[in-house]
Amino acid sequence: MPNIGKEIEQLREQLHHHNHQYYVLNEPLISDFDFDQLMHQLTELEKQYPEFNDSNSPTQRVGSDLNKDFEQVKHVNPMLSLGNTYNEEEISDFYARVSKQLMEAPFEIVCELKYDGTAIGLTYENGKLVRGVTRGDGVQGDDVTANVKTIKSIPLQLKGDYPEKFEIRGEIFLPHKGFNRLNETRVESGEAPFANPRNAASGSLKMQNSAQVAKRPLDCFLYYMLGENLPSNLHSENLELARQWGFKIPSHIKDCKSIAEVIEFIQYWDEERHNLPYDIDGIVLKVNSLDQQRSLGFTAKSPRWAISYKFKAEQGYTKLKSVTFQVGRTGAVTPVANLEPVFLAGTTVQRASLHNADIIGSLDLHENDMVYVEKGGEIIPKIVGVDDSVRDSSAAKIEFIESCPECDTALIRIEGEAAHYCPNTDACPPQVKGRIEHFIARKAMNIDGLGIETIDLLYKSGFVKNVADLYELHPMQLTSLERMGEKSANNILSGLEESKQVVFARVLFALGIRYVGETVAKKLCSAFKNIDALMGASLEQLIDVDEIGPQIAQSVLEYFSNDQNRLLLNRLKDLGLQFELSEEEQSQHSNKLEGLSFVVSGSFASFSRDELKGLIEKNGGKNLSGVSSKTNYLVAGDKIGPSKLAKAEKLKVAIISEDDFKQMIDN
Ligand code: IVH
Repeated sequence: MPNIGKEIEQLREQLHHHNHQYYVLNEPLISDFDFDQLMHQLTELEKQYPEFNDSNSPTQRVGSDLNKDFEQVKHVNPMLSLGNTYNEEEISDFYARVSKQLMEAPFEIVCELKYDGTAIGLTYENGKLVRGVTRGDGVQGDDVTANVKTIKSIPLQLKGDYPEKFEIRGEIFLPHKGFNRLNETRVESGEAPFANPRNAASGSLKMQNSAQVAKRPLDCFLYYMLGENLPSNLHSENLELARQWGFKIPSHIKDCKSIAEVIEFIQYWDEERHNLPYDIDGIVLKVNSLDQQRSLGFTAKSPRWAISYKFKAEQGYTKLKSVTFQVGRTGAVTPVANLEPVFLAGTTVQRASLHNADIIGSLDLHENDMVYVEKGGEIIPKIVGVDDSVRDSSAAKIEFIESCPECDTALIRIEGEAAHYCPNTDACPPQVKGRIEHFIARKAMNIDGLGIETIDLLYKSGFVKNVADLYELHPMQLTSLERMGEKSANNILSGLEESKQVVFARVLFALGIRYVGETVAKKLCSAFKNIDALMGASLEQLIDVDEIGPQIAQSVLEYFSNDQNRLLLNRLKDLGLQFELSEEEQSQHSNKLEGLSFVVSGSFASFSRDELKGLIEKNGGKNLSGVSSKTNYLVAGDKIGPSKLAKAEKLKVAIISEDDFKQMIDN
């Protein structure tokens, strides 16, 4: 067929168009089924004719399962933040300052909503999305192009009369609906929910597997265009044009000609924001004329032509009913305030975190106090103040408890730490259960079929008191549990059996040693190779390991010096769990690169950057993110950043190729 190329092009155009109708305009023209059909046709053709591959094809939005770490990219124009204002007076000051600097010339202020997500800079060349970079430190950010491409409202191919090259900035966010759905599935699978949509959005954008990002319902509003050849001298007109090229430009924008109009916009949205399907945390004011923007210029941190107005966090006023104390997996005791229900920023609040004894003390909290609550960055709101003017003089002060509410053991407080702990690690129920729950979690042993509720039943029935007991469960014990059929029981048993193949690093993480998270567990496994060597390690040997400090080392020593823990480990070993690096893992390990530091940059023929970095670590070397006098080698790939190269030359750092590197580890 001579015209395959054309056919593919037409399909792509149709799909880009329908994608825009659906995700940007909210006006689908065809059914989901028909859309999927077109997508299927295109996927098949692309498979058959790979010579027509295009990284901006609509088929690329599903992302890729290849884990990819992010290259640091310098922003062409630094990504600055905005100055904040909190009241009308400060807005008036801003207005007066602008007017004075513009020698009293007339000016317009564009008011926009301040989207509460994570900032992104998108670069387009010849109508194609070529790069998406996060804010980072404002000077350079992470190249997250592969992830950005999975966000359906971001156009991969523009239409109409766009400039040849420009950057457009905006905010990637999660609408409430998508956020709630995401958290529900996380909780169901035993993962911690995200604290708020902003954290969820920035966490999603930083995931290394773009196929996973594609599953997150992210969205993106664009609000700022940069470039040397922009079509209009007005910010508002440039945004309108960008809308025609296919971008999702917010519709709640107002061109204001007086400060009264600005204040009106702010007051309107202070109320109305609660009806939006996504979070905003303020209003952004921008001088509309680009000429005037240029004449106003920038301070070191932010533009003089723009400012943000931040909404006050909503406060609730309610009565403290009681304070209860919760014990977590590590034995830390957290005080929680139980409140008379109060409606606050969209939800009813009945509980607030009090964090620790110091916070209770500084609030001077008394029984039945009337308190002010606010929703901060966390899911659980916090008490920000107490109204002592209405306090009953007989009300008793709230004191922190002295013994564990679960097992009555006297609590301890570690010097330098704010938290109280229950030291009864071996028998305090929430600690015992918490450790088992941590052990079976997805990122740890990932045991199929076993969830928090079953653990609760197994613990209550006395069948399981520690993680080793799980592996000695009898099928009859399982089927004797409430609502547990034979099929589910078998599923759990085979899940347990399979978990015996889980690699050493994850087993070590699963043990739940304080401060030993996933990364630390990996480092310890690479350094000591097996559990006996790790158990025998001294404080100095532990601290010698890259990124292991005294606090972690001390906690590891404490864990292994406990007799109960040693007994447990022996049982787990006898049961057949992995307590050493596999032969495959071992064979990839050496100390050929010990004491050497590397910077990896560019792309390589035989491995991904991540694989290369992995090889460096496995051979005892250390990865650095930037070239400095401490760098021994710069491994230079294709399209290496010119600044890294120049710096390496200046500092006389050895620059080696992929092949040179292979030789270093092969010999
Ligand atoms: S304009 C130089 N417009 O707020 C001005 N920013 O503190 C560039 N933001 O990093 C920013 N909504 O992530 C602009 N309508 C809006 C915005 C907005 C949210 C964020 C953005 C920026 C931060 C500034």
